[in-house]
Amino acid sequence: MPAPPTDARTLRAEVVRVEPCGDDGVILVVRPEHDLAAIRASRFFMLKRDDRVSPLIPRPFSIYRQRDGLLEFLIKVMGRGTRALAESRPGQALILTGPLGNGWPTIDGGGAPWVFLAGGVGCAPFPMAIEQALAGMDGKAPARPEDITFLFGAATKGLLYDLDAYTEQGIRVLAATDDGSQGFHGNVLQLLDGLWERGELPRDVRLLACGPDPMLEAVERLAHANDLACWLSLETLMGCGVGICNGCPVDTRPDGPLGEWPNAKCCVEGPVFSTEAIALG
Ligand SMILES: Cc1cc2nc3c(=O)[nH]c(=O)nc-3n(C[C@H](O)[C@H](O)[C@H](O)COP(=O)(O)OP(=O)(O)OC[C@H]3O[C@@H](n4cnc5c(N)ncnc54)[C@H](O)[C@@H]3O)c2cc1C
Ligand code: FES
Repeated sequence: MPAPPTDARTLRAEVVRVEPCGDDGVILVVRPEHDLAAIRASRFFMLKRDDRVSPLIPRPFSIYRQRDGLLEFLIKVMGRGTRALAESRPGQALILTGPLGNGWPTIDGGGAPWVFLAGGVGCAPFPMAIEQALAGMDGKAPARPEDITFLFGAATKGLLYDLDAYTEQGIRVLAATDDGSQGFHGNVLQLLDGLWERGELPRDVRLLACGPDPMLEAVERLAHANDLACWLSLETLMGCGVGICNGCPVDTRPDGPLGEWPNAKCCVEGPVFSTEAIALG
């Protein structure tokens, strides 16, 4: 049975600062009670305040940045749990469990170029992915900035959270908004299609995507239709985050590497899955 990662711990942390980000988000910067080893991008933590304001059940958040002994989380306010975290003040005590999950696959510098697709707060697992890819992962050749195209889509420009964090890294960054308020008028898949049509990107790319379910279902269809290597980071609702509650099932493909079981647990077998392994749509 899949188990939580051996490096995961429950620990206390203190809020250092809370920075507004976009129309409805914050970057929550916290100092854990002890230093953590370098965390792979797209792993996550279960997070709650250590008081009666947060709901009893902690909520999952991708690691957004890790530097100088601090952990950062990009949090979009959705309901009670995210609001409690966003309204924290410096000094607020938090309870964290993590790092959980598997993280992105090795992003190397050989082979087909990479296209990273983010929808709204689905951008959260990408700043560290870019940093780690450019630095080199798992002993593989580092990606070069020209190997990575980051396509960031959102409903409107105020939901293109922290856009400078990507442009600063020297990779190609293109934004898309549903209402045309910034960048391409449309969604990230239409944007990608335009790049292909104009010959600005080879057809053979490797895809990483994180965003709302309809976007990920469309990315999954695109990957299968074009036989592309593709990994999705899922934001499935979670209860425990550690494999106990069965609250995060993801359908598996019968012909895929996880097909022995009809579903996988997103928290301990994901949140990143190859599109060869799961069936969203
Ligand atoms: C592995 C993982 C990583 C995540 N990383 C981030 C992150 O970096 N930043 C971030 O802001 N969020 C992230 N999320 C989503 C985040 O966990 C939820 O938004 C949060 O749990 C909502 O809690 P709440 O108490 O504020 O809202 P609730 O009161 O629990 O829900 C409010 C409303 O939002 C809906 N909702 C709740 N969670 C989701 C979801 N995951 N997808 C779609 N609708 C949802 C509910 O159905 C309800 O309608 C991640 C989720 C997972 C599983
Ligand atoms: S969230 Fe409990 S098993 Fe995955």
